[in-house]
Amino acid sequence: LKWQSPIESANLYFQKFPEERIPLWTNPCTDPRHQAILPPSINCTQKKLPDLLILGPQKTGSTALGSFLSLHPDVSQNSPVPGSFEEVQFFGGKNYLKGVEWYMSNFPNESTVIYEKSATYFDNPSAPKQAASLIPHAKLVVILQNPAQRAYSWFQVRCISGGRYVHHLDKWLEHFSLQQIQFIDSDELKEQPVKVLTTLTKWLDLPDYPYESHIRFSKSKGYFCRFIDEKTKCLGESKGRKYPEMDEELRMKLDKIFSLDNSSLYKFLKKNRLRIPKWLEDVVRVRA
Ligand code: A3P
Repeated sequence: LKWQSPIESANLYFQKFPEERIPLWTNPCTDPRHQAILPPSINCTQKKLPDLLILGPQKTGSTALGSFLSLHPDVSQNSPVPGSFEEVQFFGGKNYLKGVEWYMSNFPNESTVIYEKSATYFDNPSAPKQAASLIPHAKLVVILQNPAQRAYSWFQVRCISGGRYVHHLDKWLEHFSLQQIQFIDSDELKEQPVKVLTTLTKWLDLPDYPYESHIRFSKSKGYFCRFIDEKTKCLGESKGRKYPEMDEELRMKLDKIFSLDNSSLYKFLKKNRLRIPKWLEDVVRVRA
């Protein structure tokens, strides 16, 4: 028998099982053995985990969707996290190692629906498994935008991975059921946010909310904005920026890059009897 310090043993263990270096958090409140040894700061009688994740991907209008959804009195969001565009960015990111208690500390005490929007989740390979392990019953929202348009929008900052929708969806569907996912057409969100939010509110089993009285089009911004206390509140300068339209040559190049992915998305939505966004009908028709 050989004595080894705990650190040496741990090093040996993780050399053998490197995939276990990052723990997989589960909800301590659902396991009686964990509940018995929880610190007093975790109060399992309060709901402290989100019911809904807005997965993004980036540049699809996820900030606008979140800001409109937060108008609903029965909906709350995480408190803003400094340094990550106010997002929690827990699953698949470095904040995951801060642990469940840290994650819980970002959410308000009570609300019918608590959500968080981290646009880094959708195309992160570890996020589906980590999310399913901690919040298996959560609902998910994915915003579908023409990936060429999305890449162009992000190219103004930079771009391709998140637009490969089915490739990433497969990973989420290994851990969540299709009924837990709501798909939103990004163009519809831009042009008819009240309609999108009304459908989303029903799907979340929330009471109706008069979004039409609190969402108005701003001519100067060129987008719909929240209308609160007689004041129009638009998103900041980094959302809904003004830049030249994409030229036809670049559009064709990007559509070509995404053509296989777009066909798979079309087939996937059709097979599951889900609505096909108009942009997807258009790109698939052009190819046919
Ligand atoms: P651009 O700034 O390139 O126009 P996200 O918040 O997911 O990163 O998405 C940002 C994009 O949301 C913006 O990209 C803009 O096109 C889109 N968007 C949709 N509705 C909007 C709204 N009401 N106000 C501002 N941007 C909106």
